[in-house]
Amino acid sequence: MARQDGLKQEIRELLRERNAVMLAHNYQRDEIQEIADITGDSLGLSQEAARCKEDVIVFCGVHFMAESAAILSPDKTVLLPRLEAGCPMADMITADDLRAYRASHPESVVVTYVNSSAEVKALSDVCCTSGNAVNVVRSVPEDKGIYMVPDRNLAHYVQKASGRRLTWWDGYCPTHERLTIEATVRAREAHPGAVLVVHPECPPEVVEMADAVLSTSGMVSYCRRSGAKEFLVGTEMGLLYRLRKENPGKIFHLASRALICPNMKITTLEDVRDALVALSPVVTVPPDIRRKALSALEAMLRVPRDVS
Ligand code: 13P
Ligand code: SF4
Repeated sequence: MARQDGLKQEIRELLRERNAVMLAHNYQRDEIQEIADITGDSLGLSQEAARCKEDVIVFCGVHFMAESAAILSPDKTVLLPRLEAGCPMADMITADDLRAYRASHPESVVVTYVNSSAEVKALSDVCCTSGNAVNVVRSVPEDKGIYMVPDRNLAHYVQKASGRRLTWWDGYCPTHERLTIEATVRAREAHPGAVLVVHPECPPEVVEMADAVLSTSGMVSYCRRSGAKEFLVGTEMGLLYRLRKENPGKIFHLASRALICPNMKITTLEDVRDALVALSPVVTVPPDIRRKALSALEAMLRVPRDVS
C-alpha cells in the first residue's frame, strides 16, 4: 500500500509538471480510477479529450480510445501507457473488410461503434458509442439502409430499441460474450431481489432478461438514481469500483466472474508513471485518416441526445 501511495504521489506531481490530464475508462484497475482526473465511458472520455486544455493526455484504456483522443485533439500528445492494450472486438474488422462492403453497398449508411480502428472510422459515415447508438441510428434518414460495425450484439439491441431495420458485421466483445444466459439465470436465482443492469455488448438473450441496458456511465447514473438497494451488474468487473464508491448504501454483484477484460487490466500505476517520465508511448493517427475519422466522430457528437 505504501508503495502504491508513493507512486500515486509521483504521478500527481508528474501530471502537474507535464501539464497533463489523466483519463481512465470505467473498466480500469481500481487504483488507476482512484487517481485519474476523469473517469468515464467511451463517449464521455472522447468528449473530455476534445475539451481539455492540457498539453498531454494520459489515456488509461485501450488503443482505440487513445486514437479517438488523438483524432479529436491533434495538437496534444496522447500517451497510452501500454501500447499493446488493444480491443479484440475492434480487431475483428479491418479497413479492407469495410472497403469491400462499401464497394458492394454504396448506398448504405455505415454506423461504426467507437470500438474500432481509426482506419475503419475513416471509412464510416458516423460513429456511435454504447451510450448514444440508438440516437445515432434514429438520426439517419428513414429511407437509408444502415450497416453497423463491428458489434453484432450492439447492432441487435439497437435494431430492437430504435425500430429501424439494420444489417451488421459479425464481431463481438469476447468479455461480454462470456456472460451466458445460464450464468445470468444462476445469478438471478442467487440474488432474486436485485435489479439486472447489462451492457448492450452482452448476448441478445441476456439483454432480453435485463431491467436496463446501458453504457458503463449510463449504469452509474441509473444505479445512483434508482430507489433499489441491490443490483446485478452485467459488464466488465472494473465498473464495480465506481458503483460501490458512489453508492455506499447499495449492494452490487457481478453477474459472472468471467466478466474481466484482460486488455483493460494491463495498465498499472508504474506504467502511468513511466509514460509520464518518458512522454511515451505516443499514439498518433496519419493526417489523411485523421481527417476522415474526425468527420465520422464529429457527425456523432452533433447528434442530439434525444432523437425519436
Ligand atoms: P462504454 O464505457 O462506452 O459503455 O464501453 C464499453 C466498452 O466495452 C469499452 O471497451
Ligand atoms: Fe474490447 Fe470488450 Fe475489452 Fe471493451 S471490454 S476493450 S469491447 S474486449
